[in-house]
Amino acid sequence: MISLKSVSKVYLLGQTQVKALDRVSLEIKRGEFVAIIGASGSGKSTLLHLLGGLDRPSNGQVIWDGQDLGQMSDQELARFRNQEIGFVFQQFHLLPRITVLENVLLPATYAPQKNLTQAQTRAKTLLSQLGLSHRLNHTPNQLSGGEQQRVAIARALINQPRAILADEPTGNLDSKTGRQIMTILKKLNQTQGITLIVVTHDPSIAKEAKRVIEIKDGKIK
Ligand SMILES: Nc1ncnc2c1ncn2[C@@H]1O[C@H](COP(=O)(O)OP(=O)(O)OP(=O)(O)O)[C@@H](O)[C@H]1O
Ligand SMILES: [Mg+2]
Repeated sequence: MISLKSVSKVYLLGQTQVKALDRVSLEIKRGEFVAIIGASGSGKSTLLHLLGGLDRPSNGQVIWDGQDLGQMSDQELARFRNQEIGFVFQQFHLLPRITVLENVLLPATYAPQKNLTQAQTRAKTLLSQLGLSHRLNHTPNQLSGGEQQRVAIARALINQPRAILADEPTGNLDSKTGRQIMTILKKLNQTQGITLIVVTHDPSIAKEAKRVIEIKDGKIK
């Protein structure tokens, strides 16, 4: 279970305070597929970042299975993210100068108990399952957008996370490729019970989720 307890996030822009999230409380159960929707600037990415421990709230608590992320040191939080969560972003965020296989392996090289031989095998299996066996030694700029996002999904899965947090994962893709990416994510949720939280502008994606959370002006609507 993931709980947010009265979470706020205030950004300081010079002298101005921007209240990106305003006392948001919610609970997401293990294995759920939740879509987060709302207008541009409403606070969706901020919410996802706080849920995933990429950033810390100004107030309130983010709790995963009883573990309060706010009580963790930066190092503990980095380890938590590395072990428990797979992130997928609109811009893919692959490293351009290393190969597909190396990109997928990267989170495994940061893992505390490294077994790189095992990770290599797992990376190749994941890439093969995602239809990318023939692309292992390519660099990201040699791939299409849909292929790059599949590499990002393989990277998100390499450490066997409990949850995938995706911020507009189809935002840079045409609608057909976007549907393929969503099919992959949904299947991971359905067959492996991986909790899936997807920020999206796309009503057809939101419709597929079991639950839709709408954010307006930093609050749950
Ligand atoms: N690092 C930052 N510094 C200052 N203000 C920020 C920062 N990040 C976000 N904001 C502000 O916080 C608010 C919420 O931003 P957020 O990125 O969460 O919106 P969003 O719903 O994801 O929008 P979009 O759909 O355009 O991605 C916006 O007003 C934004 O300008
Ligand atoms: Mg956003």
